[in-house]
Amino acid sequence: SPLMALLRDMPKAELHIHIEGSLEPELIFALAERNQVELPYADVAALRRAYAFTDLQSFLDIYYAGASVLLHEQDFYDMARAYLARAVRDHVVRAEIFFDPQTHTARGVPMASVINGLYRACREAERDWGISCDLILCFLRHLSEEEALVTLAQAMPLRDRFIGVGLDSSELGHPPEKFARVFARCRALGLRLVAHAGEEGPPAYIWSALDVLQVERVDHGVQALQDAALVQRLARERIALTVCPLSNQMLQVFPDLADHNLPQLLEAGLVATVNSDDPAYFGGYINENFVQLFAATGMGARQAYQLARNSLQASFAGAASKAAWM
Ligand code: ADE
Ligand code: ZN
Repeated sequence: SPLMALLRDMPKAELHIHIEGSLEPELIFALAERNQVELPYADVAALRRAYAFTDLQSFLDIYYAGASVLLHEQDFYDMARAYLARAVRDHVVRAEIFFDPQTHTARGVPMASVINGLYRACREAERDWGISCDLILCFLRHLSEEEALVTLAQAMPLRDRFIGVGLDSSELGHPPEKFARVFARCRALGLRLVAHAGEEGPPAYIWSALDVLQVERVDHGVQALQDAALVQRLARERIALTVCPLSNQMLQVFPDLADHNLPQLLEAGLVATVNSDDPAYFGGYINENFVQLFAATGMGARQAYQLARNSLQASFAGAASKAAWM
């Protein structure tokens, strides 16, 4: 249909993609073989059968197991190259890519292998395909703030290879304020700031992401609708929410996509965007998120244009790039 063609073809930015969540089962097994890593699954089909999630934690356990095959700079390059090729097909003109260094440094992988492999894939994609991309380093919130500070120090020799920091992993029990000091240090370093908040967690976590961490965007943020004063704050300050519909469905935040609250977020004047989160695990890349969400909720062309414009506006690209895209 014309609407589905519009959703697929319109230029868009992807602002919420965990690069480790783009690892397809086939690439997991290829890297396991190449690196002689033992996996607790017999084959691709057995791994895919394990993708039956009940909540965020049940996903994270499998996601960290999948990432265990990444050892060398070339592995990180191959993973990001595959994602960026796929994003170009979905008419993504700008990608801001999360990575979880602590998942890798904890296994003895050097920080430089992680960042240099991802960085090279970004620069080559810009050269080969014209997509604009940058990296955002995420701290794992189930670990301590001391460990986040060590991670930041390890990344400082490569400070020019990422544009910002984020906060991800298990949300409940790990509120943003646990990371107040490390985010203050990142702000002083001129890094852009985002955090996951209000995926499974309460509106209070979104408030503290804004007030304590001083983030510029909120990742997920779908629980904001429970708090009218918070909705007003997000709308007035034009704080973008990077919403991930298929992720929310698969992790049982909105078990039925028809009940997803993205139409209401837009109706409330919020700067909502559509993103894939972990496309290899949740059944689709960014265009699949758009197509399935629109098919389930009955939104139309007006909302499609609004979401594409929101994503480009909320990106951390320069003003000249944004002007060229819009
Ligand atoms: N890491 C990868 N995907 C995530 C998500 N949806 N929430 C929190 N941490 C994540
Ligand atoms: Zn996420």
